[in-house]
Amino acid sequence: TLAAGDFKVADLSLAAFGRKEIELAEHEMPGLMALRREYGPSRPLRGARVTGSLHMTIQTAVLIETLTALGARVRWASCNIFSTQDHAAAAVVVGPDGTPDAPAGVPVYAWKGESLPEYWWCTEQVLRWPGGEGPNMILDDGGDATLLVHKGAEVEKLGAVPAADPDDSEEYAVILALLRRGLAEDDRRWTRIAAGIKGVTEETTTGVHRLYEMQQQGTLLFPAINVNDSVTKSKFDNRYGCRHSLIDGLNRATDVLIGGKVAVVCGYGDVGKGCAESLRGQGARVVVTEIDPICALQAAMDGFQVATLADVVATADIFITATGCLNVITSEHMAGMKHQAVVGNIGHFDNEIDMAGLARRRDVTRVPVKPQVDEWRFADGHSVLVLSEGRLLNLGNATGHPSFVMSNSFSNQTIAQIELFTRTEAYPVGVYVLPKYLDEKVARLHLGALGVQLTELTKEQASYLGIAVEGPYKPDHYRY
Ligand code: NAI
Repeated sequence: TLAAGDFKVADLSLAAFGRKEIELAEHEMPGLMALRREYGPSRPLRGARVTGSLHMTIQTAVLIETLTALGARVRWASCNIFSTQDHAAAAVVVGPDGTPDAPAGVPVYAWKGESLPEYWWCTEQVLRWPGGEGPNMILDDGGDATLLVHKGAEVEKLGAVPAADPDDSEEYAVILALLRRGLAEDDRRWTRIAAGIKGVTEETTTGVHRLYEMQQQGTLLFPAINVNDSVTKSKFDNRYGCRHSLIDGLNRATDVLIGGKVAVVCGYGDVGKGCAESLRGQGARVVVTEIDPICALQAAMDGFQVATLADVVATADIFITATGCLNVITSEHMAGMKHQAVVGNIGHFDNEIDMAGLARRRDVTRVPVKPQVDEWRFADGHSVLVLSEGRLLNLGNATGHPSFVMSNSFSNQTIAQIELFTRTEAYPVGVYVLPKYLDEKVARLHLGALGVQLTELTKEQASYLGIAVEGPYKPDHYRY
């Protein structure tokens, strides 16, 4: 049974509802269930203490229970203040065999609508295990858990927290305050935690970007597997997942008719491609903005107008950022938009839309409409509707990607955890992607559920192509 203090969720009485949805999701997550069948008996994650920082949704609940079925102990926080599904969090804490009065599942620290100090408190709770231990594995999405360990160890090495700067974001100030408290207790907690970590498996483009930066600067403290760049992750979750959940978020937030409207998608990478396709599917006239000539050309070839934001800001109805960049939509842009233009971000962090700049303006007031929907009224009479305070709208305003696509992503996560935990010596500090045969395995696990009949190479054909009948079928540089 879990101790009362060893989790924090909104409401354990939601567990029964969460459990029903978990059971429905399991059927839609054939990859994870196949991994449970394959590895359940040998329990390769026995001895693993996994700290997870990833949107606490129903799909993530199936991932968590897959990791425990493979022998891991797990502690979990969400990687976004709005993305937790409270019934999922409750069901994971209660566990399949517990009750709300006697929870017997996994310690989760997550609820929908955390403040920033609460968010970082939750992240700290999942990194500090009972008995003064730390995790030996991290499963991260966006890199916040990894960042906290690295910042903490850096501060302990320096013996001081960097002085506050008036230009620091509110969030950075929260992190510094947390580290200052740790330093005052003088237990070198983050240095010890960092030393105990065998590795991290990272879910998303933005987190992977942070890892490669640390690798280049020589500051990375433990090996990492880049799950995002498995083909069965980024070319599926980022693209087809967003194709599904962008529209879901827009509809639940505003229910504004999309057909006939002009919708702008900033960024035509994997996420942007899915977003543009789904908006077009609803009958919107879609305009793409890009900085990369290759992606701009792709968008044009796919039939989208490619323009700068300045060109369309005054005439478009819906604006979506999907770049992983910052200040893509500025407060000046919003000042120049049509009345009741909808502005949302589907990239990982909230700085794609300059929310801080918007809040600082004197000619605008924020009028909350409902949770995660705000009308920002300008003095000239027009207003814009900003979704999820600029945080990823598909998880803030809706329930994120559906189970089937997440089964692909999370099968990669599970395999990456097994790889790093059981074959640690094969991965010196650095950033790695999974080998292609494992990527192909993840895809294979999902074919049957869709009735896909795969053609098998003959021996003659295989030798003609110079590949094995059982794969891998493409060289590593192939781009899909
Ligand atoms: P990507 O790198 O494939 O695509 C981003 C694109 O934005 C690139 O083509 C880049 O050239 C373009 N770009 C960068 N700065 C720009 C600017 N100032 N204006 C216009 N275009 C610009 O990355 P991906 O995989 O599409 O991910 C994008 C973001 O979405 C990341 O932050 C990622 O972590 C996040 N993500 C969110 C998901 C969700 O469910 N909400 C799911 C998967 C990824």
